[in-house]
Amino acid sequence: MLFSNQNVIITGATGNLGRPVVHSFLDRGANVAAISRHDHDPELAEYAKNTSGNIIFVKADLSNESSVNQATRNILEKLGSIEILINIAGGFAGGKLVVDTELQTWNEMMNMNLLSVFLMSKAVMRAMMERHYGKIINISALATMNPGPKKGAYLVSKAGLNTLTKVLAQEGKEVNIQVNAIAPSIILTPANKGYMPDADHDKWVKPEAIADLIRYLCTSKNNDINGNIIEMPAKG
Ligand SMILES: NC(=O)c1ccc[n+]([C@@H]2O[C@H](COP(=O)([O-])OP(=O)(O)OC[C@H]3O[C@@H](n4cnc5c(N)ncnc54)[C@H](OP(=O)(O)O)[C@@H]3O)[C@@H](O)[C@H]2O)c1
Repeated sequence: MLFSNQNVIITGATGNLGRPVVHSFLDRGANVAAISRHDHDPELAEYAKNTSGNIIFVKADLSNESSVNQATRNILEKLGSIEILINIAGGFAGGKLVVDTELQTWNEMMNMNLLSVFLMSKAVMRAMMERHYGKIINISALATMNPGPKKGAYLVSKAGLNTLTKVLAQEGKEVNIQVNAIAPSIILTPANKGYMPDADHDKWVKPEAIADLIRYLCTSKNNDINGNIIEMPAKG
């Protein structure tokens, strides 16, 4: 199997994008450490039973350094090494001009989308550096390429993530660590369908397509794509 004997941390594992990504790594034999704010997830546990992969559940608050460090220590104790880190956890807030944005909203966006990836990368990348191997994937947003109004906190947090991705890629390249981000447009999720029932859902980015790209970037074959923010626009 493509990811047999590979240990993969996936944050946001219980989310709309996280689930299909977890499924696709389990299907290919990976040992997945699924991070969310829950101790256990029955759907993912059941799914794993019918695959050649394994799953462990790790509860963490990704905006808290000691929680992230404890979670990473637990994973390293159980799995021994981490080959792949996929930072999916994140969130959206919008609808207000910057001048009307509460400090709390600003901080929430920075914590969910940027601090979380800084802390996870800091906790995991040193172990990857020691072993001269690692793949890190971050989930950004296409809207960072052409920023518009009324989602300033979100866009700035994801733009920071783009820069963090490029910096980490430079810092990891001498020790065979590749760091890339995927920047999707609106994703075809049940939540988004609920918010926009009348939109043309066929044009939205399919989670499975994002999972396919993540897997390609995480294969040992990929040593060359590094420090890229890969755009995934909606169709049409
Ligand atoms: N949906 C879109 O259209 C879209 C478009 C472009 C980019 N993105 C990006 O794609 C990623 C996934 O989006 P999604 O729609 O799958 O989001 P989602 O369904 O809301 O899932 C978010 C995940 O992040 C976890 N999480 C949030 N804050 C956390 C924290 N402090 N500590 C630990 N876990 C935390 C949640 O865990 P719990 O289950 O514990 O809450 C959940 O698993 C995000 O980074 C998002 O910004 C999404």
